[in-house]
Order: sequence, then structure tokens, then C-alpha cells
Amino acid sequence: MREFIFKANKTITSPNINLKDLAGSCGRLDLLCRCVSDAFFLSHDIRRDVIFYAVLCGEPNPPVCIKFVGSELKKVSPDERNIAIFIKKALKKFLENDNKDDWIESTPGIYVKRLDFKNLVLEKLNEGKELIYLHKNGENIENIKDIKNPVFILGDHIGLLEEDEEFLENLKVKKVSVSPLELHANHCITIIHNYLDKLTQSK
Ligand SMILES: C[S@@+](CC[C@H](N)C(=O)[O-])C[C@H]1O[C@@H](n2cnc3c(N)ncnc32)[C@H](O)[C@@H]1O
Repeated sequence: MREFIFKANKTITSPNINLKDLAGSCGRLDLLCRCVSDAFFLSHDIRRDVIFYAVLCGEPNPPVCIKFVGSELKKVSPDERNIAIFIKKALKKFLENDNKDDWIESTPGIYVKRLDFKNLVLEKLNEGKELIYLHKNGENIENIKDIKNPVFILGDHIGLLEEDEEFLENLKVKKVSVSPLELHANHCITIIHNYLDKLTQSK
């Protein structure tokens, strides 16, 4: 299983989503949609061994965590607008649901609940997962040949906040780089998939 946690610092937390303005009034929802697309979609297929968490921290109701489970997704397609429609449905379900503290399924394979970044990270550590913070200044990914049950943590256009980075440092989360250049988060996801696909095939 490959898991990703994407922290969307400014992304809207109400279903009041303008599908024509994902980047502006929706707080860079376009970035999140591209990350979901690159996390799951192959040409004419889907990666069923992926779970993707988005922690939305924008107004008016943060934090909201949306979980996408590759083996269960149905009718989602790779384009940003389509993914944004599913996120809108998840946020509507979240708003309407009285119990916000348990996962509730909004559409097949897409779940939503109240969960902040730090508690999600702690949950994954408690599950025994290997947490990896993707950062330009981390250790070169190519030095790492054995990765079991990884959970990759990514920031958005702002990156992780200083307090998030300190939190990860205190937990001794490994910092790993996929390029000497600063990339978009979705490009990092593609590189990670490619690296792990090649590692798996060479075994
Ligand atoms: C557009 S970058 C963030 C830029 C932001 N200004 C910063 O300083 O963190 C989005 C995210 O992609 C990941 N990222 C970008 N370049 C990377 C690289 N070369 N190696 C690993 N991760 C990278 C990081 O997780 C980063 O938070």
C-alpha cells in the first residue's frame, strides 16, 4: 500500500465551491485535484494500492480530512473538474452530518471526517507505517531501496508550516527529496510512483 497525506493550508472547507475558480476562491483546490489525479490514475486504469488523505485547512470550517481509497473509487476521472465535484459532495456530506468525528462515506471510496494534520500523522505512526516527509532538502530518494508501508507527506504551494515541520522533526520523521528543484506536489507524487514501480519490478 502507498499512502499520501497532502496538507492543503488554504483550501475551502465548505461545499460552496465555484468549479470555475478552483485556484482562486477555493484556496488552490486545483492543486489538491491534481494531486488526487496523479496519485490514482494510470492510462485507462487506476492504482488500487493507494490511499490519499487531504487535510483541508481553509475557511470556514477547518480542519476537514478527506480520504480517497483507490480500491473502492468509482466514477472518478482524472480531470480536475470531475475530482472537484467529488470533493464538493464530500464537503456537503460533512456539513450535513451531525457526527463529524467518524469517517462517513460520501461517494464510493471517498470518506470525510474532522481530523487535523497532526492527529492524522500520529494515527499513521500508531499503525506502524513508515512516514516520509517529502522536501527538496531531504535525503535523495535513490538512496532508499527498502520502503515498507510508506506514508508520504506533502505540502501545498505554501509548504508545511514551521510548526508542522517541528512536529515532524520531533517525531523523527525522515525527510526525503525527489529532485534538486522545488517541484509541484503532484509532480512529486508521479516521481514517487515511478520510483516505487521500478523498485518493485526489479525485485
Ligand atoms: C510547491 S512545493 C512547496 C513550496 C513552498 N514554497 C515551500 O517552501 O515549501 C509543494 C510540496 O512539494 C514537495 N516538494 C517540492 N519539491 C520537492 C522535492 N524536490 N523533493 C521532495 N519534495 C518536494 C514538498 O512536500 C512541498 O511542500
